[in-house]
Amino acid sequence: HRVGVLISGRGSNMAALVAAARDPACPYEVAVVASDKADAAGLAHAAANGIPVFVGPPGKIAREASFDAIFRANGVDTIALAGYMRLLSDEFVARWRGSIVNIHPSLLPAYKGLDTHARAIAAGDAHGGCSVHVVTEELDGGAVLGQARVPILPGDTPDALAERVLAAEHLLYPKVLAEFVTR
Ligand code: GRF
Repeated sequence: HRVGVLISGRGSNMAALVAAARDPACPYEVAVVASDKADAAGLAHAAANGIPVFVGPPGKIAREASFDAIFRANGVDTIALAGYMRLLSDEFVARWRGSIVNIHPSLLPAYKGLDTHARAIAAGDAHGGCSVHVVTEELDGGAVLGQARVPILPGDTPDALAERVLAAEHLLYPKVLAEFVTR
C-alpha cells in the first residue's frame, strides 16, 4: 500500500511514518512526500531517506493539480496529511474521497482548527491529545480513526503540552495508518 504524505513544515509526523515503514511487517510504504513550501524542513529528511520529494507551485488550483498528478504518478493509494497547513479544495477531497487522512492535535470533536493546546488549557481540561481522522470537506471533521489522550499538568504551557502531545502523535499516526490501509 503506497502512501503519499503532504507536509508544510517540520515534518516530524512524516518522519514517524517513514520510520515505522522500515519495519518489514508495516503494511504501507511512503511513496512520495510533497509540500506547498519549498523550505519545509521535512523535505530534506525525506530526501535523505531516499523518498521522492516534490514542491507544489503557487496557486491553489495549480498546486492541487500537481499534487494529484504526482500522487497518481507514484501509485499512491492513500494521502496522509502531516502538518499540511492549507485547506484542500472540495474538488481535491472529492477526487480522493475516503483516501485522505490527517492528524490533528486535539481530542476531536473538541478544538478543531488552530491553537488547540492553548484552548484546552484555557478551558481547564484535564486532558489534551491527538486524533487521526478521515479528511472530508469539513475542517477537521471526518470520522475519527484513533486518538491518544495526554494529561494536562498543573502549570502547563501550550508549548509544553504540544511537545508531550507530539510524542503521542508519533506513536498514534503510524499505528492508525497501518490499521486504515488494511481495513
Ligand atoms: C502536528 O502537531 C500535527 O498534529 C498538526 O501540525 C503539527 C505538525 O507537526 N496537524 P510536524 O510537521 O508533523 O512536525
